Amino acid sequence: MKINLKVWRQVNNTSEGKFEIYEVDNVLEDMSFFEMLDMLNNSLIEKNESPIAFDHDCREGICGTCGVVINGRAHGPLKGVTSCQLHMRSFKDGDTLVLEPWRSNSFPIVKDLVVNRQAFDRVMEAGGYISVKTGGAPDANAMPIFKENADEAFDSATCIGCGACVAACKNSSAMLFVGAKVNQYAQLPQGQIEHEKRVQDMVAQMDAEGFGSCTNTGACEADCPKEISVTNIIKLNKEYLKSKLA
Ligand code: SF4
Ligand code: FES
Repeated sequence: MKINLKVWRQVNNTSEGKFEIYEVDNVLEDMSFFEMLDMLNNSLIEKNESPIAFDHDCREGICGTCGVVINGRAHGPLKGVTSCQLHMRSFKDGDTLVLEPWRSNSFPIVKDLVVNRQAFDRVMEAGGYISVKTGGAPDANAMPIFKENADEAFDSATCIGCGACVAACKNSSAMLFVGAKVNQYAQLPQGQIEHEKRVQDMVAQMDAEGFGSCTNTGACEADCPKEISVTNIIKLNKEYLKSKLA
């Protein structure tokens, strides 16, 4: 099939960007979306043109490195998948796809579709850790955890830090990401030592990075490839309030 692409091209963070139009022929429906971009890049290189820069690593929906806005949706039209898990069978012959990077002042553009997501790393540095006693490993089952708490911690921990929630939100809010990270620790006994400090420090860093506020549109949950629930934001607000009262 033939796919028409309108791709955001930008040399670096200080230059002006613009859309460039490309036609990709002989696209197979079993190709991944990134294999289609690889094919286009090979043809650009053969013509001595600059290939389109896009982020990827595992290409299996695990690492959180990839992220393209496709026709206005972070990670594209399918629910619960990353850009790298998308296949061309999701599109039709002759379709036009508009490809853009994550748009947020807190994620400055590095080049083309690549953005700098170090703001998330700094939020994690502020509180995404636990303290443990040194010495021998504790006995298995020495620290009982209710199944509901273990399940909830696991659900929150599936967040891969991709940033799609920020890209999808009209306010560039990072509260789904921060909520998932805070809730993951809040559910477990190991997370209790820094409990109050963690939520305050992570929220303070989130604000310092310039992420916006949540206005309950739910766009973050809709585009999150791991389907992290907005209840994590409710939990975040609850944890924050509790820590302030304490
Ligand atoms: S909450 Fe979802 S969209 Fe946001 S960073 Fe985590 S996995 Fe990505
Ligand atoms: S490249 Fe790892 S999640 Fe997409």
